[in-house]
Amino acid sequence: MNRRTVITGIGHFTPPRVVTNFDLEKVMDTSDEWIRQRSGIVERHHVDPGVGSAELAYEAAVRAISDAGIEPGDIDFIIAATLSPDHYFPGNGVIVQARLGLETVGALDVRNQCSGFIYALSVGDQYIRAGAYKKILLVASEVQSTNLDYSDDGRDMSVLFGDGGGAVILEPNESGDGRGILSTHLFSDGRFVSDLWMEKPSCKDKPTFRESFIAEKKFFAHMDGKNVFKNACQRMPEAVMAGLEHNGLSVDDIDFLIPHQANDRISQMVARGLKIPVEKVIRNIERYGNTTSASIPIALDEAVKDGRIRRGHLIALTAFGSGYTWASAFIRW
Ligand code: COA
Repeated sequence: MNRRTVITGIGHFTPPRVVTNFDLEKVMDTSDEWIRQRSGIVERHHVDPGVGSAELAYEAAVRAISDAGIEPGDIDFIIAATLSPDHYFPGNGVIVQARLGLETVGALDVRNQCSGFIYALSVGDQYIRAGAYKKILLVASEVQSTNLDYSDDGRDMSVLFGDGGGAVILEPNESGDGRGILSTHLFSDGRFVSDLWMEKPSCKDKPTFRESFIAEKKFFAHMDGKNVFKNACQRMPEAVMAGLEHNGLSVDDIDFLIPHQANDRISQMVARGLKIPVEKVIRNIERYGNTTSASIPIALDEAVKDGRIRRGHLIALTAFGSGYTWASAFIRW
């Protein structure tokens, strides 16, 4: 079969409110210098009260739909990735569907945290190549700022994360010109669930919501930063190498690498591990922080729109995050 999945439209949206490291200095014991040195982050975007990740997904979707030159009514399937949905259930997919005015189009929710975009891309790619759908909307969006611990206890986490959304349109390419997704590679290791997680609420508990969990700050995300750092630096290069081997390509064939924007030190370590010149690595974390599932489509959109990524380029995406889950994808743009 000569059919490949091609990204025909892309868009992103971040809420207008910018929160700098200096703003965070005012509410917790941290410093611009510490945050920059440890993560490369200078500022991030935070939503205003009442704005959820489905709204950011919708805004990104509108931009991707326009970029693809299609109408919302052309979309025949939706995939929504997030770890910060508007509701415990249902997921964001149906909210985006209703917001776009699509009556009965199927909507699938993906929960793979920082790897969510690549996992969702992999699902969409299978559907398109199988001929099941012709125009899939994939949205990946997060609102992290509403549930971060802005006291000193939570400073290792709260300075890192930001809000944002990205979206792509996936369509079949049967022209035989080679453009499109070459392959996706998905991995996980559930032994490390508690290294980066939001432990509560948990349906194992009766009652699920307890005052004691609030007192113990169990409703905030917790992270073993050093372990996450170490594993991210190892797993993302491994995932990229798996994809290169699968496609019979070498590191030199990659025109641009887009790692999940978790920490600029991690991105640089990944580049070093793969021996890819850092100029070939798309990095924008200084302006957004870690936007989890949205970070790759935001970075991809910026690099496409500013002309760095051009038709024919080989793009490698890679991500690592809570689970642990990690992944890579190779795209001939
Ligand atoms: N401001 C100032 N000091 C802070 C701080 C903050 N925001 N957060 C933590 N610190 C302190 C710590 O309390 C610690 O103090 P101590 O030495 O007195 O105990 C000190 O800084 C050093 O902390 P350490 O954990 O050694 O720093 P680090 O170099 O490991 O960097 C992270 C911390 C979180 C930046 C780093 O571990 C990291 O990036 N991990 C991966 C995070 C990530 O990407 N997660 C998402 C993956 S998808």
